[in-house]
Order: sequence, then C-alpha cells, then structure tokens
Amino acid sequence: MKIPVLGIGVTKFGELWDYSPRVLVKQAVAEALNDARLKITDVDAIFVANMLSGILGNQENLGALFADELKSANKPAFKIEGACASGGLAIHNAVNSVLAGVYEKVLVLGIEKMTDHNPAEIAQALMSAGHDEERASGISFPGLYAILARAHMEKYGTKEEEMAAVAVKNHYHASLNPKAQFQTQLTIEQIMKSSCVADPLKLLDCSPVSDGAAAIIISNIKYQRSKTKRTVNIVASTVATDSLGLRGRKDLTTLKAAMVAGSKAYQQAKIKSSHIDVAEVHDCFTIAEILAMEDLGFFSKGKAARAITRGATKLGNGGLVVNPSGGLKACGHPVGATGIKQVCEIVTQLRNEAGERQVKGAKIGLAHNVGGSGAVAVVHILKN
Ligand code: COA
Repeated sequence: MKIPVLGIGVTKFGELWDYSPRVLVKQAVAEALNDARLKITDVDAIFVANMLSGILGNQENLGALFADELKSANKPAFKIEGACASGGLAIHNAVNSVLAGVYEKVLVLGIEKMTDHNPAEIAQALMSAGHDEERASGISFPGLYAILARAHMEKYGTKEEEMAAVAVKNHYHASLNPKAQFQTQLTIEQIMKSSCVADPLKLLDCSPVSDGAAAIIISNIKYQRSKTKRTVNIVASTVATDSLGLRGRKDLTTLKAAMVAGSKAYQQAKIKSSHIDVAEVHDCFTIAEILAMEDLGFFSKGKAARAITRGATKLGNGGLVVNPSGGLKACGHPVGATGIKQVCEIVTQLRNEAGERQVKGAKIGLAHNVGGSGAVAVVHILKN
C-alpha cells in the first residue's frame, strides 16, 4: 500500500469557547487544502470523524452538514464513529475507498467540541463508548484506566512516579508545540501532588477535555510534493477490536486490539517495530502510553515504564521519539479529531517541518489510536 498524503491541517487544541464546530472545521480544512494546493471542488468525498456531537450537541448527520458547510453539497459524505478512535477509523475507511478506486481525492476531517458542557455531562457522554454493565456501575473512563493501571502495577511493579514520567515527557514536548492545549512543563512532584481522579490516576495523569479539529487529504494518484520535498505515504492502515467491557478480557495488562492492529500494520508495511523513528500513541491516561509501548513491541512487557522514566522516548534522545506533539495528555484530546491530528503530526515530522520539536532524521512514523478502554484500535504507518 502507498497512499500519498496531499495535505494536512490542525487547529489549536484547547478550551475554544469562541469558536463553533463549523468554524473549527473550516480552519482545519482550509489549512489542509492550502497545504495540498487544492480547492474543495477537487475533493471527491468527505469522511467526518466525531464521537459526541449527537449526545452533547443533539446534532447528527455530520457528513451532510459539513459537506454543505464546505460548499460541497451533493458530494458523498460520511460520518464515522468509533469513540476516541473515530479519527483513525475515518482515515482507514478513506484509505480503503481510494484503494478500491471509488474516489480519487478524499478529505478526512475530525471535530470535537467538548468544553462547552459540564464535566458530569462529558464523563457520562464519553461512557457511551463503554459496556452497559460498566455504565450501570457508575464507573467512568479514568476509573476503567485506573483498573488497567492497578493490574500493571501488580504484575510488573510499575510505580505511580513512572506513570507521572509519561506526563512530564509529553508536557515537555507540548511546550514546543504552539497548537497544544498545555504549553507548561510539569515535574514528577507536581503530578504526584495533583488531586486524585481515580486511584492511582491523578488529575495530571489524565488527558484533558478539549475542543479542536484536524483534516487530511489523501489520494490514489501518483504525487510528488515538490522537486525537493518528498511525499509522505500511508503504507499501512489496520484496525482490530476487542470486548467492549474490561470484564471480557483475559489480561488487563495489555490492550489486545492494539497488539493485533500493530502486528498487522508491521506486516503490511513490511517493517519491524524497531524501524519506527517517531510515534504518536493514544496516551488518554499515562498508563495508556505504557501499555501502548509494550503492545506495539517497542519494549517487552513490564519494561516500558522504566525506559520512559530514563528518557528513552524523549525528544533529543537519538532514538524512537513518542508523542512529539505532546500526545493526548498535553496537546489535548478532542476525541473525534485526535486520530487525525496524530497522523498530521507524523506527516509534519516525516516532512521535516516540525520546527523545535523535530525528530532528527525521522523517516518512518506510526500513529496508534484507541477507542473505549481498548475495544477498538487503529494503527497507521507512514514513510517519507
Ligand atoms: N492535564 C493538565 N491540566 C489539566 C488537565 C489535564 N488533564 N485537566 C485540567 N487541567 C487543569 C486546568 O487547566 C485547570 O487549571 P487552571 O485552574 O489553572 O485553569 C485545572 O487543571 C482544573 O481543571 P478543571 O477543568 O476544573 O478539571 P476537572 O476536574 O473538571 O477535569 C479531569 C479534570 C481529569 C477529570 C478531566 O480533564 C477528564 O475527565 N479527563 C479525562 C477525559 C477522558 O476521559 N477522555 C477520554 C479518554 S478514553
């Protein structure tokens, strides 16, 4: 597979109370079209990633809504939902549509507007991605990931300070990303002292509630970005699922869907995990990045937390860099936009256009997007 990425666009992530979803989408799409040197009339189809608009905003039918808003009424347009993996799933579906030759140029956009709602409404809406038994018990997503954290701590001796090291690294990376929600650096002490959300996860172990949009344009045409600039291509796109609830899992120290999607993606790209230079992984909670590192084969089971604490995946280390955007933890997590922002960040890195947060010499990148507490995982691998 070799699907060229023609253009990318990402809005600032954060509490964007002055901007409606329509405005955010237009910003991201205008940036992507400009980057691709295309007009909206060149686009054959639109895929929209979103999770919460129906529940929080009472607005569905987002394919038609954004086609109309982007002056593309009458074009085919689809909404794709897979909880926090909606963005990755929308790209996967767009990739399949161009591989099948149905469309030539496809716009994939992700949008989420969360911060206009109160925290209880948001937590409840996010739990629509969980199992009905979990909802009935009153647990929310921080609670589900706290269970995964406890299991990992018990089996591998993972410490709370090692989880905090994930947040320290990602806040450092975000301090170099002008579009990130949080540009402040944090210390282990600050994270350890932050208020408990779901033991052992504290406020600063959690990704925030965010607004934002991202867009990407892909195609099945041969594409040369410029005489000097190489094109970034998607060379693998895989999806796997698992039980919706944690009760259906044999092992709570791994997200099997991510393992399966990851190993299939390496096969599809004909590479090994050791070939990846830069990765954007789904760190919705600090424990989630530790799980991702092990599930994607970057470290053996039980070894990731110590490696991250040593700084093995930090910018400037000379090896694999993880979440140079700041990840969900510090760049922000507008859920429907996240999977698309991850791919945009990898494209920026592989084009060598990431400025202060550039991973030197990055040639192969991976994006890992998870929905629910691991019920769905999407992996994309890109090469320049
Ligand atoms: N990381 C860093 N700082 C954060 C933060 C985060 N995750 N969340 C909030 N803050 C900061 C805020 O900016 C604010 O700072 P200020 O007082 O200087 O303005 C302060 O902490 C308190 O923020 P507030 O919005 O009142 O926090 P909250 O208690 O309403 O929400 C969480 C905090 C962690 C409960 C909420 O962010 C959350 O639910 N996150 C998880 C979202 C989720 O489940 N996503 C799906 C994943 S599968």
